[in-house]
Amino acid sequence: MRSPDDVSMAEIHVEEHSSPIKTPKQLVIVILLAFLVPITLIVMLSQLVTSGGDFSKNNPGMSDEAIARRIKPAGEVVIDPTQPKPEPAAPATVAAAALAVPAAAPSKGGDAAKGKAVYEAVCAVCHLAGVAGAPKAGDRAAWAPRLKAGTDALYASSLKGKNAMPPKGGNLSLADADVKAAVDYLVGSAR
Ligand code: HEC
Repeated sequence: MRSPDDVSMAEIHVEEHSSPIKTPKQLVIVILLAFLVPITLIVMLSQLVTSGGDFSKNNPGMSDEAIARRIKPAGEVVIDPTQPKPEPAAPATVAAAALAVPAAAPSKGGDAAKGKAVYEAVCAVCHLAGVAGAPKAGDRAAWAPRLKAGTDALYASSLKGKNAMPPKGGNLSLADADVKAAVDYLVGSAR
């Protein structure tokens, strides 16, 4: 038989391990707070982040010029085949070195630098590797019979085309003098 004292001891013992929420009302309050507190924090944080930004046109930082200045590209590519190539960065160096004709002789007419630039931009596509039977740059055996025909004949076939060789190397916007300079540069290595 338990005495009333034993019962109260047991109750106290149970209560020591129970949660602080004892009534349904407390439970409802805790659940509400569990939603409201994080939401309030998020709202306050977003206010903190977005406040202080004046995106109206009155702000000098938001003028069209200021925006254009901020979003302008860091650089732009200008391709001008008539300009000598700038010194390329590391990986491109190999390709550029391979494009250059070994020991080009001084040109007869036209500008040697221009001839080199035109050759690299237009002619090297075929004449570097000998595409479609093109005589390779620096290949004496391939050029010897052609050189016998005379430089003027080579100029003529370069300007007008010859078999698989397109007129002006396919770039009809080239000036005749530039094509001739490229011929000088191309055959200069094979003399
Ligand atoms: C689409 C490829 C291609 C391009 C681009 C090209 N060539 Fe040629 N070229 C050829 C071929 C193929 C031949 C050989 C034609 C033949 O004799 O049948 C040739 C031949 C030549 C010859 C010798 C012509 C002759 O009378 O024997 C010269 C000089 C020449 N090319 C210069 C140039 C120059 C300069 C350029 C750039 C402006 C250029 N080529 C661009 C394909 C090309």
